[in-house]
Parts: sequence; structure tokens; C-alpha cells
Amino acid sequence: MSVCIDLSGRTALVTGSTRGIGRSIAETLHAAGGHVAILGRSAETAAAVAAAIGEGARGFGCDVTDAGSLRRAITDCEATLGPIDILVNNAGVTRDNLLIRMTAEEWDEVLAANLKGAFIATQAVIKGMMKRRSGRIINVTSVVGITGNKGQANYAASKAGLIGFTKSVAKEYAARGILANCVAPGFIDTDMTAALPEAARTALLEAIPLGRLGAPADVAAAVLFLASDLAAYVTGQTLIVDGGMVG
Ligand SMILES: NC(=O)c1ccc[n+]([C@@H]2O[C@H](COP(=O)([O-])OP(=O)(O)OC[C@H]3O[C@@H](n4cnc5c(N)ncnc54)[C@H](OP(=O)(O)O)[C@@H]3O)[C@@H](O)[C@H]2O)c1
Repeated sequence: MSVCIDLSGRTALVTGSTRGIGRSIAETLHAAGGHVAILGRSAETAAAVAAAIGEGARGFGCDVTDAGSLRRAITDCEATLGPIDILVNNAGVTRDNLLIRMTAEEWDEVLAANLKGAFIATQAVIKGMMKRRSGRIINVTSVVGITGNKGQANYAASKAGLIGFTKSVAKEYAARGILANCVAPGFIDTDMTAALPEAARTALLEAIPLGRLGAPADVAAAVLFLASDLAAYVTGQTLIVDGGMVG
């Protein structure tokens, strides 16, 4: 028996896919034969990334914190690439601060990008998925949404919220053939973690049983599985990709 993941004929939209984990997810879904929509705040950057990925990839500019901009990008994507079969809510930001100093703006910015953006995008694609009686929603949360983390009350709340959101969507739309799952990365080497001081990086490495930071491709592989026919009986789950850190 041979097993092969083939996404040809399917269209995936990945938010925040101009770099980091999102870009790797888009490249991986494209390598499996899917058409992919690249989304980032700059239309030019998104178009350049799509051109680098190759035929079947298209770039769209949108800010996920702006519901109108996100809905327009989804409409443009469907007009260009066809109905969205796989939605990956990946765009995310951090605005770290101790709770005592955290401003309401820092709270709102993180919740708007990480949680409300996923709600708006999911709502925009779900009607079409219901009609077609198939679809995959994959939300990129974080182990921090499970464990909590000092200095990240806003980020942890947004990521924990995403897990509850995903479980609810999974229950509401299972009967319509739509599966919703989360991937929870641990410590992945991207722009988001680049600013971490060396001492913190070393301490983190000691807490990772596999002894290395994750690569964006490690997360993309988990997303590919959840997007594929191999995951046809998996919904409402959170797949942790953290080198064994959370245990
Ligand atoms: N790196 C880690 O260790 C780690 C661990 C756990 C979870 N995660 C999660 O994984 C996801 C990706 O993280 P990453 O490390 O790849 O981050 P990253 O390198 O900072 O990239 C973030 C991506 O999101 C886009 N983005 C940010 N704000 C946006 C907005 N308002 N509207 C549209 N796009 C926006 C950026 O695009 P533009 O700048 O081009 O707009 C970029 O493509 C996030 O949800 C993050 O929370 C990361």
C-alpha cells in the first residue's frame, strides 16, 4: 500500500503567510498540489511571495484586524482561485508585557489579530464549505494557550480562546463535513522569536527534550496532515508541535 498526500484540485488560504510559519505552511500545501492564497498586510509583499512559490499561488493584501479588509481578501481569493477548501488561520502577533503594565491597546491588538481575525475568516468561508459539505479549518494556536506564560496574558488568552473557538466550530459543523483543528507550536525559529535574549533562548532550549528549536516546516507538516484525507476522522483537536516541551 502506498500513502501519498495529494491536494490537487483544492484551494487553501493561509493568513499571515508572507514569512515564518505561515509561509512554510503555504509552500507545503502548494508542494502537495494545492492552490494557495498568500495573505499579508502588504499586497506587494504577498504577491512577491506568491510569485516565488510558483504557479497556483496568488497574493492578497489584507489586515486581519480589519473585518472589511479580511472579507474583501477572501472574496478576491475565491474569485481568482476558486472556493476555499482549506482555511489556515495563522496570522498572529505578540505585544508582551506584565499584566500590571499591560495597556488596553496591547490587549486589544493581540485579541483582534489572533482571535477575532480567525472568527471573521472562518465565518466568511463556512457558508461555502457548508454548501459543498466539506472543508478544513486549521487554527494556529500556541502551547502558551495551554500552559500560560509570564508576560503574555494577552497572547495566552487569545491562543486559549482559539482552542475553544475551534472545538465549538468542530461541533457545530461536523455534520456538514467540515473539520476544525488546531496546531499548537512550541518554540519555533521565526521573526517572532528572533528578538528573544540569548539567555532566555538557552533556558528555553534546555526545556525542549528534542534539544532544538522547531522549524516552520515542522509546524507545516502537522498542518498538511490535518488538511489531508489522512485526517478525515480528526476534529476538535489540538496537535502540539513542540519537541516534547509541554509533555
Ligand atoms: N514562532 C513561534 O515560536 C510560535 C509559537 C507558537 C505559535 N506561533 C504562532 O504561529 C503563527 C505564526 O507565527 P510566526 O512566528 O511565523 O510569526 P511571524 O514570523 O511574526 O509572521 C507573522 C505573519 O503574520 C502576518 N501578520 C501579522 N499581523 C497581521 C495582520 N494584522 N494582518 C495580516 N497579516 C498579519 C505577517 O505578515 P506581514 O508582516 O507581511 O503583514 C506574517 O506573515 C502566529 O499565530 C503565532 O502566534 C508561533
